[in-house]
Amino acid sequence: MTWREYHEATKHSVESLRRARHVLDWANMPDPFRHYEGVPVLDLPADPPAPEMPALDVLLGTLGTTPVGDGPTLLSQLLFYSAAISASKRVPSTGSKYALRVNPSSGNLHPTEFHFLTRGVKGWTDGWYHYDPSRHMAEQRGRGDFEMTLASDSAPIVFVLTSIVWREAWKYGERAYRYCLHDIGHAWQALALSARAIGCDSFAAGHFPDDEVAELCRLNTDEWPMLIVSLHGRSIPVREADTGKTVWFGGQATQLSKEPIAHPLIDSIHFATKRSGSSRNSLTEFSPIGSGEIRLPSPASSTGSFGEVARMRRSALDFLGGKQSISLAELSAILAVTAQPLSADFAGARFIQLYLYVHHVDGLQPGVYRFWPKHAELEQVKSGDQRVAAAGLSLGQDLAGNACVTFSMIGDLERAAHIYGDRGYRYAHFEAGAIGHRLYLAAEALGLGATGIGAFYDDEVHRHLNLAPNQGQVVYHFAIGYPVPDPRVSASNEPQEITW
Ligand SMILES: Cc1cc2nc3c(=O)[nH]c(=O)nc-3n(C[C@H](O)[C@H](O)[C@H](O)COP(=O)(O)O)c2cc1C
Repeated sequence: MTWREYHEATKHSVESLRRARHVLDWANMPDPFRHYEGVPVLDLPADPPAPEMPALDVLLGTLGTTPVGDGPTLLSQLLFYSAAISASKRVPSTGSKYALRVNPSSGNLHPTEFHFLTRGVKGWTDGWYHYDPSRHMAEQRGRGDFEMTLASDSAPIVFVLTSIVWREAWKYGERAYRYCLHDIGHAWQALALSARAIGCDSFAAGHFPDDEVAELCRLNTDEWPMLIVSLHGRSIPVREADTGKTVWFGGQATQLSKEPIAHPLIDSIHFATKRSGSSRNSLTEFSPIGSGEIRLPSPASSTGSFGEVARMRRSALDFLGGKQSISLAELSAILAVTAQPLSADFAGARFIQLYLYVHHVDGLQPGVYRFWPKHAELEQVKSGDQRVAAAGLSLGQDLAGNACVTFSMIGDLERAAHIYGDRGYRYAHFEAGAIGHRLYLAAEALGLGATGIGAFYDDEVHRHLNLAPNQGQVVYHFAIGYPVPDPRVSASNEPQEITW
């Protein structure tokens, strides 16, 4: 199977949805929390200091300076602002609550797990850890100086983000692989921006030999390594690495469902996008070049601190609709954060172009626009009210029409494959997820709401945007506007209070 075959086979159309009616098997729903049982569990200090740098500044590239005294506090801070539980949602019919996290996830199913390696971090034992968001604690899977020869270099902290695809496939079937890739993009940016807000640089490596990394981390067979993120910087308090023998505890990975269901198409696309060699990838510089007739004004600013914005971020259930609009300067800020460089071995070349369905933006006629990031310009490609079209194309989800602006992210999958082979399919989706995460945070910083939308009629989008086959394929939708309040959500700093 090639990426082309997988992508084609997982497109939504009216016909494909009618054919594949899917009933959710609630009794077999995968547990959203994995544990490695039987290993030492280390506390991450509660309530680590909040990164105070304005979120928009962090998104636009400024390095934060949160004073951090010791390693445990730094690790706690990194995870509290990227992967921890940040709210709970009440189910009206039963009164029970379920957890929401700092990083979003399609269907709130959270296929992404955070593993990390530390070497010479002050006050923290060197070793391999698995983050447990349900308790905000670290499960110590190994102790000692485990060198991560596959990371960019000898970084003191290296994260390995993995996907448990079954969690997504339980609900979304074969299309789930796409959502797992998006979720990795979101998790990557959640982590990279949390690090940046604290004062650490990060570098993501996607180009690694999968089986070697899985073996190195001794991952359970249902967890697939997707991204390695190394952290550097003076704000990481360091000491000499531990000497002596390494001890591997491993732990017993919890089973997530009674009976995971096999999804052969997903196994095939994952196999097709695997790498076996360990050669490094050379960065290929390329950004889509073009221009538009509308020059965007200077981006709006916001004082909302990174700490507050990261933990307040939520997906809007719907938007208010009506006539209330956002300003062009706000749109300019939202677009500016997507144009920032992404620090990764696959992000020298960018594969995603943004098309905007403008519903309510001051000074812009309703219509479809293409964003050209180099000179911050918009090119109008269609005029007229797009609300019905945007909602219809997003599988009839009203929120895409009630937003002020909705996006189609168009991925140049052919170019990604030309540069990286089938592996490029992952990278285009990581980039889309990364852009999505930046959009979420920019919207939240500006007092707006946002929602990622993975469900759309693929070929209908191409037709609506008049995209020739060589102009790319839709990989993600996104909506930003004034959110409808959701009384079921409450903020939570106390993960333990939630019952699952
Ligand atoms: C890749 C991706 C696709 C999503 N697709 C949809 C969608 O089609 N419709 C929708 O209402 N929400 C969608 N969401 C939002 C999720 O449902 C939401 O992130 C999840 O319920 C957790 O809520 P939170 O974002 O407030 O933490 C998507 C999120 C992601 C990351």
